[in-house]
Amino acid sequence: MTRSTRMPNPPSEETKAQGRYWSRHASKYDEVFLDPFRPGVVNPIPEAIRAIPGTKTKSAIDLGCGTGPLLPLLVEQFGEVHALDFASAMIRCSKDRLGADADRVTWHNRTMDDLGDLVAQFDVAVAINSLVMPDVRDVDRTLNAVRAALKPGGVFFGVVPSIDAIHYHTMLLLDRELDKGLDPVEAERLAAHHGEHRYYEFGFSRFQFQGLRQKFWQPFEIEYRLKRAGFSRVVLDRVLYPWDDHLPSGEAFADYPPSWDWSFTARL
Ligand SMILES: C[S@@+](CC[C@H](N)C(=O)[O-])C[C@H]1O[C@@H](n2cnc3c(N)ncnc32)[C@H](O)[C@@H]1O
Repeated sequence: MTRSTRMPNPPSEETKAQGRYWSRHASKYDEVFLDPFRPGVVNPIPEAIRAIPGTKTKSAIDLGCGTGPLLPLLVEQFGEVHALDFASAMIRCSKDRLGADADRVTWHNRTMDDLGDLVAQFDVAVAINSLVMPDVRDVDRTLNAVRAALKPGGVFFGVVPSIDAIHYHTMLLLDRELDKGLDPVEAERLAAHHGEHRYYEFGFSRFQFQGLRQKFWQPFEIEYRLKRAGFSRVVLDRVLYPWDDHLPSGEAFADYPPSWDWSFTARL
């Protein structure tokens, strides 16, 4: 199907609003969001991408490319690179980051479930912290579209924000307050305050901040949703974040095992 004849599902009003909110966050992105590529973070995805053989004759797509931290690696490695984001300001930031290399990328300013003209086009698809649609029907549609956009033998790499890491952080915050001798009610109040619980909907694993609504994930849900979308082999790993000033009260927990997001590799 050509671009002009494809019939995408029109984005919902919420999706359109989320696109606008993400665009607004583009210029200050690094101040607000955890960067899984910054020094000190242990992220298995770049190494896994470098280990793919014969990438000069292969194609890759960065889904929800944001300000483009992964794109220099993809451009260096792959013969054909596409980048997609529904927030136009994010695409502009990605192009700025790449400079002259931006011309080597095919850009798509649209939602991630809208891949009908790209069926069986890619050897590799990557979604780093972008599978965050607050409505799980959008997540399922997107995973189905990604599966269809991969060639036979293709691989899908992803990182998703972890809700269980927020519970881990809460546990450490609570014990810190109890160890100071506070009673449980006050200790829980302070743990919730320092853990920024006001931004979370724990029952449905969502985070809401300055208009953005993001889905967070449990590890069992990653495997469940990927398999439901037709991926047969799913392997989970973690992106590890050091306890530092990028996390609320982070420096207090430097002696404990690090926090994390979930990463996955999914094959057809
Ligand atoms: C947390 S940022 C991550 C950006 C980038 N992958 C990175 O690692 O820095 C999420 C990105 O996904 C994009 N995004 C979220 N939902 C999307 C959707 N349904 N369709 C297309 N892009 C989406 C946002 O605009 C944003 O740029």
